[in-house]
Formats: sequence, structure tokens, C-alpha cells
Amino acid sequence: MVDSLKKPDFQEIRPGVKVPAKETILTPRFYTTDFDEMAEMDISVNEDELRAILEEFRTDYNRHHFVRDAEFEQGWDHLDGETRRLFVEFLERSCTAEFSGFLLYKELGRRLKDKSPVLAECFLLMSRDEARHAGFLNKALSDFNLSLDLSFLTKSRSYTFFKPKFIFYATYLSEKIGYWRYITIYRHLQSHPENRIYPIFRFFENWCQDENRHGDFFDAIMQAQPSILNDWKARLWSRFFLLSVFATMFLNDIQRSGFYASLGLDAREYDIHVIKKTNETAGRVFPVILNVEHPDFFRLMDQCSDNNLKLSEIGANDPKPIKILKRLPRMLAMGRDLLRLYFMKPIDTAKLAGTVR
Ligand SMILES: [Fe+2]
Ligand SMILES: [Fe+2]
Repeated sequence: MVDSLKKPDFQEIRPGVKVPAKETILTPRFYTTDFDEMAEMDISVNEDELRAILEEFRTDYNRHHFVRDAEFEQGWDHLDGETRRLFVEFLERSCTAEFSGFLLYKELGRRLKDKSPVLAECFLLMSRDEARHAGFLNKALSDFNLSLDLSFLTKSRSYTFFKPKFIFYATYLSEKIGYWRYITIYRHLQSHPENRIYPIFRFFENWCQDENRHGDFFDAIMQAQPSILNDWKARLWSRFFLLSVFATMFLNDIQRSGFYASLGLDAREYDIHVIKKTNETAGRVFPVILNVEHPDFFRLMDQCSDNNLKLSEIGANDPKPIKILKRLPRMLAMGRDLLRLYFMKPIDTAKLAGTVR
């Protein structure tokens, strides 16, 4: 018999297969793009670098990395209650995000095959990596007697259409922020092994190198298309994507601070570190980055996050129109703070050239 106090109930599609988490503005997104426009892209100005990256992908450094070892062969019932719920949620969100990368890269590999073979092979090899990552996370879910039906997810999720240049901004940032997230958890647990509650975190060191290489690939593609980096629109879009990625992570993680606490991490400090590092990394390719050292930056992020936390508590039992009315002031406040963050004076990366970044 399942002790519901110890083991949280998860809704299942069929026994052992979890109902995917509800899609919201803060859940991992699935993307699609204009494949023809991508296939027509001229990458010749940076083709040497892209070929070098392709060679790295072919080398497949992590070919033997994602193998479950003896440490997984034990019961995980001691992870119970809220910790178990948060942990399963972490695995599901990570698996969904990795799988969404797999789907997009796989489709790009397929559609670009004839017209742009170098890019096509890069995408195909990145989809190989993301499939491994998603598969490893889904296998981890099975340690908690659950799994995700990935083909169901493929069919049931809605897809966001982005033009190629927006795909590059968004995927570049999600790969680089993924790198910093994984490596920061890995390094923290290396110095605090008593908090390593599950063996998957041991795999993060090599794993994050995959994400770093994927990020470098998008960096090289953007350098091959200077027009998407060097005008006033690029500056506005860079700010938009940096802020969206940072704010989404910040709001999500503060909402799940219990998960980070179970690893001995303070969610807010963890996020500040990851945001600063990702922002700094993005400065190598984006024309502007955000001024995250400005005292207003995290003050406004905190305000957004407080409003976001309050929102989830408001009107849960009210009819929809009342709920919306009650939530409106908080939503407007969040919108105002996000606009303020967006309009904060950014840092021009050209002026940083020559300084150590
Ligand atoms: Fe990945
Ligand atoms: Fe990746």
C-alpha cells in the first residue's frame, strides 16, 4: 500500500507513466522554426569554426558516460514527502527541456540535410546528445516508479514558432545557462558530498560539457550571421532574451527553493551565480548584456519573484473571473518590474573588449 504521507501521489496516464506537468509560461518550451530560411543561410564566413565544432561533436567525448552504475541499484524510499515531490518535478522538468532540444535538433538535422550538410550533421549530433540526456533523466524517474511518455509529449505539447535568429538567441542562452546550472550544482556537491542525495549529480561534470559545446555551436552560427548581432534590433532582442531566460529561471527556482535546499543550496544565491556567469558568457557574442551588478537588478527580480509566489496562492478556490480580478494587481506589478528591468541601461560588450571576461 502506498503511504500517501510519505510518497506523494502523482497523476498517471497509465500505471507508472506520469501525466505531464501543466504547460504554463514558466514550463520548458517546445520550438519550431522556418526550416527553409535556416537551410538557405550562408555560413561561409565562419565555416572553419563550424567544421571544427563538427569534428568535436563527431569525437563524441561522452559516448560511454551515460551508463548507470551500481550506486543507482538501491531503494529511494528515504527520499519522501515534499523532497520526493520536488525531486520528481526536477527530473521531469529537466527531461522535458532536454527532450525539447532533441526534437528541435533532430528535425533541423533532417530538414537541412541536403542544402546545408555541415549544419545538418551538427544538429543531428546534438540531438544524439540531448536524447542521451533526456533518456538518462527518464531512467532516473523510473527509480521513483514513474516515467514520461515522450512520444505522447511530442504529440500533446504546443510548439512555439521562432524565426531562425530567435531560435539562435534562445537556444544559445538555454545551452549556456544549462552549462552553468549543471556545473554549479556539480561543484557544490563536490565540496559538500553529504548533500548528494542521488547519484545523477555525479554525471553533471561531463554532461555540462555537452551543453557548453552546443552553446559554442550557436555562438559560431551567430558569428556566421553578423547581421543578426550588429544592429539596433539585435541589441533590443539580446536584452529581451537575456531577461526572459534569467527571469524565467529565477521565478521557477525561487518557487522550488525546497529542492535546492535539499541539496544544501540557497536557490536565490545559486540563481544569482548562474545569472552572472551566463550573462558574462553571453558577452562574448551578444552586442549588449544586462547590468546584473546594478543594485536595482536583483531588487526588481526579488520583487517579481515575491509577486509570483503570492500569485500562486491567490484565488485558488474562486471562480475564474474573480480569480483573475484578484490576481490582476500582482500581475500588473510583475509586468511593471519586468519592463523596468528591460529598460535598465545595458552594458555594451564592444566596450568590454580587451578586459578579461
Ligand atoms: Fe542536454
Ligand atoms: Fe544541449
